[in-house]
This record gives sequence, C-alpha cells and structure tokens, in this order.
Amino acid sequence: MNLTLKVWRQRNANEAGHFETYQAKNVLEDMSFLEMLDVVNEEIIERGEEPIAFDSDCREGICGMCSLVINGIPHGGHKGTATCQLHMRRFKDGETITIEPWRAKAFPLIKDLVVDRTAFDRIIQKGGFISVNTGGTPDGNSIPVPKPAADSAMDAAACIGCGACVAACKNASAMLFVAAKVSHLNLLPQGKAEKDRRALNMVNQMDAEGFGNCTVTGSCEAVCPKEISLEFIAKMNRDYGIAILKGK
Ligand code: SF4
Ligand code: FES
Repeated sequence: MNLTLKVWRQRNANEAGHFETYQAKNVLEDMSFLEMLDVVNEEIIERGEEPIAFDSDCREGICGMCSLVINGIPHGGHKGTATCQLHMRRFKDGETITIEPWRAKAFPLIKDLVVDRTAFDRIIQKGGFISVNTGGTPDGNSIPVPKPAADSAMDAAACIGCGACVAACKNASAMLFVAAKVSHLNLLPQGKAEKDRRALNMVNQMDAEGFGNCTVTGSCEAVCPKEISLEFIAKMNRDYGIAILKGK
C-alpha cells in the first residue's frame, strides 16, 4: 500500500505546531501502525531531517505508552485495540491518515506526538497501592475472595493507563482511568482497609491535575483498548460518596 500521512509536528510546548505531509510507500498489510511509522522515520533520518517523535514500549498492548490519535480517534477506533496492535490491513491503499497527539490540558505536549502523562502517576501515588506488613508468605487461598469480586477486580486491573479515555472525552475527564484503578483495589479484601482514603485522595488528585468532569458521554469506554466499562465510574462515585459521608 501507498499512503499519505498528515502528521502533527511540534518542536516543543512553546512553539506552534502544524501538520506535515509524508508519503508512506510499500506499506505491508501485516505491519503494525508503529512499524509503519518506524519505516517512515528511517526515510526521514536518511534525508537528514528530524524523525517524528512518538511513544511506544511493549508494542503488545500492555504498557500503555503508545498514544496516537489516528483519523481523529484515540488508538484509531478499532474496538479493544491499542495503537501498537493496530495493523495496516485496517487501511486502504491510497488513503490519507491524520496522526495527532493526545490533546488535553493535563497532558502537556512534549514533542510531536509525545505528551506528558505523569499526571496519571501522581494520581496513582495518592492511593493506587495497598499498604500492608507482608510478613511471611501466606498460605494459598487464605484470604477468600468472592468470585464476582475477583472477576470484576481483574476487569478493572486490565487498564494500561494509556490516557485514551482522556483524549476522547470532550471534557478531558480521567474518570474511567481513576475508576478502574480505584475499583481494582477497592473490590478486593486486601484493599478494603484503605478503601475510603483511596477513593478520596485519588479523585482529589485527579481534580488537582486539571482533568475535566465526567458527563457520561461514553466516549472513554468506546476508545478504551482494554474495554474498561463505564460501570466502574458508577462504582467509584459510590465509593467516593460513602467516604465523604463517613467524613474520612
Ligand atoms: S481506562 Fe482504558 S483508555 Fe483509559 S487509561 Fe485505562 S486502558 Fe487507557
Ligand atoms: S506500546 Fe505498550 S501498549 Fe502500545
């Protein structure tokens, strides 16, 4: 396939950005989207120009680093698929593809397609953990976990922290991410001791980082590569409300 790419180029947060046009030639349908960009970058480097900066790490859908808005949709709009797992067979020969960074005030741009997502790290630091004296190795199954709770916690734990939910939301809300992280731990017996504090502190940090409010449009769930359900937002709101009522 031969494709035309319109790529957002911006040297840093202080300079204005613009779309630059590149030709991607002889693209194989089995290439991932990032491999296609690697090949385009090789040609850019051969011309002595600055390659396109973009994030990636695992390239197998588990780290959450890849973060491209492809044709206006975070991760490209294929259900349950992160950018690194999007294959070029999804595109047609001759197509023009626009590629942009996540756009949200709480994710300031660093360069080209790379944004700073450390706001998510700071939210996790406020409660995305369990404080325990671990002692010796516990016997297997010594803490009974009800199957529905285990299943639901596992679904929430699938969140890879990519931030597509924020990028898709007209309010740049981080509710789906925070709800997944709060619920993952609050559902388990090991996480219950810090349940109230976790919900309060993580939500407060989310607000302090400048993420917007949730108006339940569902755009976050639609683009989430791990298909995290909106139901976790309802659950987090309940946990948060209970914590407020307890005056924690
Ligand atoms: S909820 Fe989904 S879209 Fe949001 S950070 Fe987690 S994996 Fe990414
Ligand atoms: S590069 Fe790790 S999830 Fe895409």
